[in-house]
Order: sequence, then structure tokens, then C-alpha cells
Amino acid sequence: MKKVLVFLAVLGLSTAAMADAYAKCAGCHGAHGEKKALGKSKVIKEMSKSDIVAALKGYKDGSYGGPMKGLMKGQVASLSDADMTAISEKIGK
Ligand code: HEC
Repeated sequence: MKKVLVFLAVLGLSTAAMADAYAKCAGCHGAHGEKKALGKSKVIKEMSKSDIVAALKGYKDGSYGGPMKGLMKGQVASLSDADMTAISEKIGK
């Protein structure tokens, strides 16, 4: 019984985290990905869903990015693949 409750709690938390995964990005990228973050990034709502996932994975493993990629690496470090997909579904074309 206790295990079931723990499982449900974890499930609830991860669902909430997924729905909210973009919240911390909005300050720089805009609520709908319509801004150039800090005047430097692409307008990410113009990117395809797969390009967004590729960029986020690349920031995480260090294989993608421009002069400010270190900043984005910190942003994506705690995102799971599922979070990245959820973000791309919300923002990308
Ligand atoms: C503190 C401001 C800031 C926050 C918060 C932030 N970003 Fe960024 N983002 C940037 C900057 C600056 C760049 C350009 C970095 C570079 O030089 O590659 C960027 C680049 C990107 C790119 C690639 C666009 C391109 O120009 O190639 C994507 C996709 C992206 N961010 C998504 C996100 C997501 C998703 C989050 C939240 C998890 C997030 N960002 C949070 C500032 C931010």
C-alpha cells in the first residue's frame, strides 16, 4: 500500500513537472517562444519540434550552441527526454 502511494506521488510530481517544464524558460524566450532570448537566440517558436529537441539535447551534451550555450546547458541539465518532447510540442512548429 505504501509503495502504491509513493508511486502515485511520484507520478503526480512528474506530470506536474512536465506541464511546467517550459515555465522557467518563458522569462527569456517569451510565454510562447516568441522572443529572442537576451537578444541572442533564435525565435524558438519558428523552429520545428524536432529542431527544438535536437537543440535541447545538444545543449545538454555540449554538442550544440553558440557563444551563450553555457547558459542554456544550465537550463536543460535537469530536463528529461520527455520534458524536452513536451516543450517542443508546446512551442515548436
Ligand atoms: C536566462 C535566459 C534563458 C533561459 C531561462 C532559457 N534560455 Fe534558451 N536560450 C537563451 C540564449 C541566450 C540562447 C542562445 C544560446 C547560444 O548561444 O547557443 C538560448 C537558446 C535556446 C534554444 C536554441 C535556439 C538557438 O538560437 O539555436 C532553444 C531551443 C532554447 N534556448 C530553449 C529553452 C528552453 C526550453 C528553456 C527552458 C528549459 C530555455 N531555453 C531557457 C536564453 C535562455
